Amino acid sequence: MFRRRFLGLAGIAAVTGVGLPVGAMAGGDPLPPASAGRGAPKGPFSVRMPVPPTLRPVARTDDTDVYRLDVLAADLELLPGVRTSCLTYGGSFVGPTIRAREGRRVLVTYRNRLPEAVNVHLHGGHVPADSDGHPMQLIDPGGERRYEYPNRQPGATLWYHDHSHHAEAEHVYRGLHAFYLIEGEDERRHDLPRDEYDVPIAIRDAEFDAAGQLVHGDPAKRNVILVNGRSKPYFPVAARKYRLRLLNSSSLRFLKLNFGSLPVLQIGSDGGLLPAPVDRTGTDFPLAAGERVDLVVDFSGLAVGSRAALTNQGQYTGDDRIEPVLQFAVDRRARDRSDVPATLRPLPELPPATVHRELTLSFDLNGTPTGLVNGQPFDPDRVDQRVRRGATEIWTVTNGDSATKYGPIQHSFHLHLAQFRVLDRDGRPPLPGDAGLKDTVPLPPGTSVRVQATFTDYLGRYMYHCHMLEHSSAGMMGQMEIVD
Ligand code: C2O
Ligand code: CU
Ligand code: CU
Repeated sequence: MFRRRFLGLAGIAAVTGVGLPVGAMAGGDPLPPASAGRGAPKGPFSVRMPVPPTLRPVARTDDTDVYRLDVLAADLELLPGVRTSCLTYGGSFVGPTIRAREGRRVLVTYRNRLPEAVNVHLHGGHVPADSDGHPMQLIDPGGERRYEYPNRQPGATLWYHDHSHHAEAEHVYRGLHAFYLIEGEDERRHDLPRDEYDVPIAIRDAEFDAAGQLVHGDPAKRNVILVNGRSKPYFPVAARKYRLRLLNSSSLRFLKLNFGSLPVLQIGSDGGLLPAPVDRTGTDFPLAAGERVDLVVDFSGLAVGSRAALTNQGQYTGDDRIEPVLQFAVDRRARDRSDVPATLRPLPELPPATVHRELTLSFDLNGTPTGLVNGQPFDPDRVDQRVRRGATEIWTVTNGDSATKYGPIQHSFHLHLAQFRVLDRDGRPPLPGDAGLKDTVPLPPGTSVRVQATFTDYLGRYMYHCHMLEHSSAGMMGQMEIVD
């Protein structure tokens, strides 16, 4: 029902994310300033950024942590003094963080307490097909399903989110997203900042109506940036190093984040640690929807009582302003024994590729916009690629929407099951954000990216798609089957 309402009411802009003016939109009035809300008037950067709670296992065995989590509706205070109805994992927005360890299995049973079907996908996870959250593998209302995550992959910043057929965009938009952090064996030997100094931060846009309810409509009206579920919050920090794991959990918006003059080392990307830290002080961090970056940010040069901003540069809404989205408020000194070693984790060898494929992502814009991969909309009953287990393949993925009747349209590329390496872009070297093991990369209009992946361990059906979720929900998704 969400889908019909969404596709029925929302115009082309909602699906393509091109931000066109739309006539009869279910929009509502723009959000009143936070200080106009009910309750205590509060200006920007006066609400504390929450850190998502860490989920506790209900049981532990020698090799397994067992979790249970409800998928349920909750009214939450995303904006000061206002209750917003959300879809949640366990009642929080962002949902609870699952902290896993490399080599230690996790079992999570999700119980669906919503009136509609959902499912759960572990984004970036190397998991058996029946635990991957295939779009047709749904948890009906009142039902539950157990997912198995072996965590036989290097430590990495993953996240989990809804992936139900045609509904993932709205479900994630309304709240079904959370972190899943795998700690690598090797990370236990490093002295990277840990515990309260290791902070996952999910950033995404949203539109609220005058009553403070989330509107899933024209993306150009998503003018509120939520940072761990709060608009313009502050985060109290000690004057020391922090590990910050940033996730762009927007369904469409690309972010361009910047820490100003704060010293920043990039230590990892989607699939885990880089071979060595990269000094990225002062540089932008462009993040496509679904991408992550793992950083160590040093606040030790700041005086207690001072503040520093994380800024975002508005994109695709045609709004190029640089605006602060989060303030770090230095409120104490603290001992800092953490250390970023000069070498982190070697990347796996690139075995020679035996198969080359070409994929083009585009829209059919006649009538209801339909997302396509190689000219076809997603069909859950159709296998688009058969991939031999163990094979190494190079995929050239092209954005075919450089010149549509609505102008150029941005896409991204996300692959399930395997992390990939970016070989090049249009024959030129990869972007800084393409470094390391990746599962999600931006795909600007008219460009192509070559990625290489090795498909190990599991047989069965897995997805690849544009991670602008309104695009995948509209069909821009394909299915591969791993076979022997
Ligand atoms: Cu994060 Cu197939 O998705
Ligand atoms: Cu995924
Ligand atoms: Cu797309």
